[in-house]
Amino acid sequence: MELSAALDSRTSAGRLTEPGPTPQQLDRILKAGARAPDHGRLQPWRFIVLEGTMRDAFIKTAAEAKRARLPGMTDEQLAAERDKINRSPTIVVVACVVNREQTKIPEIEQFAAVSAAVQNMFLSAHDLGYGVMWKTGAAAYDHDVKAAVGLKPDDHIVAILHLGTRLK
Ligand SMILES: Cc1cc2nc3c(=O)[nH]c(=O)nc-3n(C[C@H](O)[C@H](O)[C@H](O)COP(=O)(O)O)c2cc1C
Repeated sequence: MELSAALDSRTSAGRLTEPGPTPQQLDRILKAGARAPDHGRLQPWRFIVLEGTMRDAFIKTAAEAKRARLPGMTDEQLAAERDKINRSPTIVVVACVVNREQTKIPEIEQFAAVSAAVQNMFLSAHDLGYGVMWKTGAAAYDHDVKAAVGLKPDDHIVAILHLGTRLK
């Protein structure tokens, strides 16, 4: 796909199903992320591909984070929320681990670099024919969710990137 065609046709995919990107395609998507403009070449991005027990822990804590925001959620609604997150074949948490050992590049610029990385990834996956949804929500700001994916409270989750085959 031409870049201009990719830019013109990019939209979010509200519902995803299998298959997700192959390991080789996922590698291309992550490499596209790492090509983002990055003031000071600090590479503040972290691409956390959720698999196995980490994926399970993420789904559990992300659903709990939603319930913390909506305390009326029943156990059935909590289970439905877990199922909904789990429907995405591939989930990549894109985080900004701010380099605070230097003072030249402010935090907001490091966050901006990671945001550019997310968009590169989105367009790369779109170019490969996959549906993408950039999410945040309560999960992105929850310390238990961050811990579940190996992040510290002062790290930022910039995107919870859902990838797969587009249903709509
Ligand atoms: C920083 C950021 C956070 C987002 N978080 C959510 C989210 O939590 N839930 C959601 O449904 N969409 C989320 N979106 C996706 C936007 O809502 C989506 O891009 C918007 O609905 C426009 O649709 P389009 O991408 O098809 O143009 C987020 C987008 C950005 C840039």
